Amino acid sequence: MRAAGIPLSMEYHWGVVASDGVRAMMESALTARDRVGVQDFVLLENYTSEAAFIENLRKRFKENLIYTYIGSVLVSVNPYKDLEIYTKNHMERYRGVNFYEVSPHIYAVSDNAYRSMRTERKDQCILISGESGAGKTEASKKILQYYAVTCPASEHVQTIKDRLLQSNPVLEAFGNAKTLRNDNSSRFGKYMDIQFDFKGAPIGGHIINYLLEKSRVVHQNHGERNFHIFYQMIEGGEEDLLRRLGLERNTQQYQYLVKGNCPKVSSINDRSDWKVVRKALTVIGFNDDDVEELLNIIASVLHLGNVQYGEEEGHSHIASDTQIKYLSRLLGVNGTVLTEALTHKKIIAKGEELVSPLNLEQASSARDALSKAVYGRTFTWLVNKINASLEYKDEAHSNFSVIGLLDIYGFEVFQHNSFEQFCINYCNEKLQQLFIELTLKSEQDEYEAEGITWEPVQYFNNKIICDLVEEKFKGIISILDEECLRPGDASDFTFLEKLENTMGGHPHFVTHKLGDGKTRKVMGREEFRLLHYAGEVNYDVNGFLDKNNDLLFRNLKEAMCMSENKILTQCFDRDELSDRKRPDTAATQFKASLAKLMEILMSKEPSYVRCIKPNDSKQAGRFDEVLVRHQVKYLGLMENLRVRRAGFAYRRRYETFLQRYKSLCPETWPNWNGKLSDGVSTLVKHLGYKPEEYKLGRSKIFIRFPKTLFATEEALESRKHGLATKLQAGWKGYRQRTKYQKLRSSAIVIQAWWRGILARRKADRRRQAAYTIRRFIKGFIYRHKERCPENEYFLDYVRYALLMKLHRNLPKNVLDKSWPAPPAALAEASELLRKMCMQNMVWSYCKKMNPEWKHQMEQKMVASEIFKDKKDNYPQSVPKLFVGTRLNGEDINPKAIQALGSEKMKYAVPVTKYDRKGYKPRSRQLLLTADSAVIVEEGKLKQRIDYGSLKGISVSSLSDGLFVLHVPSEDNNQKGDVVLQSEHVIETLTKIAICADKINSININQGSIKFTAGHGKEGIIDFTPGSELLVTKAKNGHLSVTAPRLNSR
Ligand SMILES: Nc1ncnc2c1ncn2[C@@H]1O[C@H](COP(=O)(O)OP(=O)(O)O)[C@@H](O)[C@H]1O
Ligand SMILES: [Mg+2]
Repeated sequence: MRAAGIPLSMEYHWGVVASDGVRAMMESALTARDRVGVQDFVLLENYTSEAAFIENLRKRFKENLIYTYIGSVLVSVNPYKDLEIYTKNHMERYRGVNFYEVSPHIYAVSDNAYRSMRTERKDQCILISGESGAGKTEASKKILQYYAVTCPASEHVQTIKDRLLQSNPVLEAFGNAKTLRNDNSSRFGKYMDIQFDFKGAPIGGHIINYLLEKSRVVHQNHGERNFHIFYQMIEGGEEDLLRRLGLERNTQQYQYLVKGNCPKVSSINDRSDWKVVRKALTVIGFNDDDVEELLNIIASVLHLGNVQYGEEEGHSHIASDTQIKYLSRLLGVNGTVLTEALTHKKIIAKGEELVSPLNLEQASSARDALSKAVYGRTFTWLVNKINASLEYKDEAHSNFSVIGLLDIYGFEVFQHNSFEQFCINYCNEKLQQLFIELTLKSEQDEYEAEGITWEPVQYFNNKIICDLVEEKFKGIISILDEECLRPGDASDFTFLEKLENTMGGHPHFVTHKLGDGKTRKVMGREEFRLLHYAGEVNYDVNGFLDKNNDLLFRNLKEAMCMSENKILTQCFDRDELSDRKRPDTAATQFKASLAKLMEILMSKEPSYVRCIKPNDSKQAGRFDEVLVRHQVKYLGLMENLRVRRAGFAYRRRYETFLQRYKSLCPETWPNWNGKLSDGVSTLVKHLGYKPEEYKLGRSKIFIRFPKTLFATEEALESRKHGLATKLQAGWKGYRQRTKYQKLRSSAIVIQAWWRGILARRKADRRRQAAYTIRRFIKGFIYRHKERCPENEYFLDYVRYALLMKLHRNLPKNVLDKSWPAPPAALAEASELLRKMCMQNMVWSYCKKMNPEWKHQMEQKMVASEIFKDKKDNYPQSVPKLFVGTRLNGEDINPKAIQALGSEKMKYAVPVTKYDRKGYKPRSRQLLLTADSAVIVEEGKLKQRIDYGSLKGISVSSLSDGLFVLHVPSEDNNQKGDVVLQSEHVIETLTKIAICADKINSININQGSIKFTAGHGKEGIIDFTPGSELLVTKAKNGHLSVTAPRLNSR
């Protein structure tokens, strides 16, 4: 046997070898916790043991794993706390996934039904059963939410989805109440069709309601409440509303709300629920008037409850007319008519109307009957109104598929059980019957379809109980109806007697009278006991006849037919008054509606949700084994399991089986290409299955014992690690390869584009270049022609090139004579430009010149005119600036200055004077005035030469500083020509030339200079080039001057 706790992962690790490996691995990690116990009871080795069954439930329940399968049946244990398993993520996880791939969930059942509907186009129904408080209503809401979230939607569908969802709070407010079993117990049965179009979108809905527990309106057992809506309206209604309805905000004021002595429930917030209901009414399509009229009715029920009677001589009367005033206003009926109807009864006998007064007891029950009728009919109206809003109106697309949801009151046992419990439990018997038939039938069908021999299983068939209740003429309902209809003194007790007479000896029926001593101790004399499939229940016959008759006196009906309340006029039809036929009794109506329900359900493919209640105290985490065992028993879960296991514990379609286990056999791994059945056959032979362990059907393999499968599963488990690594490696390699290839091909694409761009650019450039060259050559050929298209480019270019060349090589200054050589065609322009350039430079040079510099330049110009290219040391003088004077006032003897008198000195320079005879050198100063040049020795003016008498000036062409001032020899005042030497000969001579205006009188001589030495004598100076400057008297009596060559010419 398999040790407890070893994870059974066969269904849930499925995807590891499936194609969608990644998701499956995630899934298996997520569900690791889920593998507590077994997730499908079918795989429970000790499947006949109830203890093992319950232990498995308990183990999972402790881990908050409330769902477990028996094959395709979902068992759900009420957690009594919010679990984080209903999020959108969870819904997504179950969407479109195989039933067995993920852990058990209500969503898996929902999704499975939805997909069957879509793929097989067959209507589905989901049957939710379990006792009161086991979680049926919650389950149905979860299913509805699942469809609302996961199904495709359009705008229209969204409204339908909203209305489907919002119908719940409304119906719960009017049809649910707090009972001892459940704080939100459904007091009516509900079957809801959700209609889907061919795209799988919900497009409409329809609700059928079953037998509302109307008695609750007027009476509640201790610890229970009336329907939620009363409390919600009083707690949550606005002041204004309550005032209009004549209500006080205190539930204790109303007789119909105090019977159970339970105004508040900790798990219920009436005030906020009121808001939810108000909003839901709007979503469903109630306008303000509808709501107002609806609430008028609800309020008038409360007022009715407070109507007080008095009695005089057996005739009742109404004690105070306060309530009547409210009632007449709220219901829109005449107060007097109502008062009369509440105190008298009217019957028609032999065509005549008989009115008789009611005593106090009769009057109160007439009042209660009215309350129940008003509330009950209003509830039905409400369901119809919701149906109208859910109705799919598009006739053109009336072809839809349906998923039905059945959430009906569960099996119920109280201390005191009445007609309502009888009906409820009868209903559960019928559903159990359906369950047995369908599950057995489907199991049988499957074996048949697969061609496998089927061995019947023993199970308790509750048909016998169903018959006991509903059989024609002999059943309890028939007898009850008979008692209700027969004339004479029929009462609840004559009914009991009749039952005893008819049913006596039936194995499932006992009364106090029929029972043994032990039974008598626990049974009242007014009770009968039914041994339901789910347990024994004692029913108190008190009230059975009344409730079955469900009568309302004619005058009350008439009063209601006259109502101005629009809802009531729909509820109380005038035709009813003229209809002489007695309406069917409540039990018969109920029986008929159940028969219809069975028909509806049989026509659909069922899924089951079996709800279990873990404890009676609505507590989270408490698992009451006794209570659970009881439910497991009566829900027939063990039988269900046995039937499922009778033949084969496990079955799977060939492809599924092969896909999962193919890795365990070399022939089937990695792919089997032959027939699926052959593949499976090969695989199981390789695994060593013995012939009795399995059977091969037409499309499925059936495995008899779980241990066979466990062995296979364990083999897979160990193989899986190796396989997973291999798959991973393969996968990673594949991923990397594809990634690399993608990168590579991207790179190539980019490269190709870039290369293309580069090549295009290059080609463009070449084309451009070729064109330019061609144009150039053509232009060159045509260059001498007139300007024409062929040569204009070339000509322009030549001009442009010259201008650019000039631009780069312009002369830097006025002395720079360089000028780029122009092409022949542009010689003239070039010359013009050169001149302009030069002018421009000169002009800007002149602009920058100051007066002193101008003066300097003028002198330099004179010097240039005289000496340029004529005297050897001229070039050296050019860069040296001429000064104003070489001697200042303090350098000259004041006597000499005095002797000059008023004559202003313009220039003075130290000179060497050579004697005319012996050529002795003597140091003298030469002063220039406006009129004359004066030679000065100390304070004496030695010689004055007026410029007027200066005949000329001679100077050599060499680099020496000698010069001769020629004066007229006949002038006696003069001692003859003067031979002088100046360090600054160029400057000195220029000054003299300017002062004396003798620019043209300077002779530059080669070789020698003759001069007069006074008294008719003549002297000669010879100049020769030499290595250094030497002035001597030569042997021939001449003055000999040698001067170095400074500039080679
Ligand atoms: N799946 C669930 N998760 C949490 N609480 C639940 C769940 N099912 C039921 N319950 C609790 O149990 C209470 C009774 O459930 P409900 O569906 O009304 O029972 P039923 O319809 O079978 O009588 C709910 O009000 C809720 O508090
Ligand atoms: Mg319910």
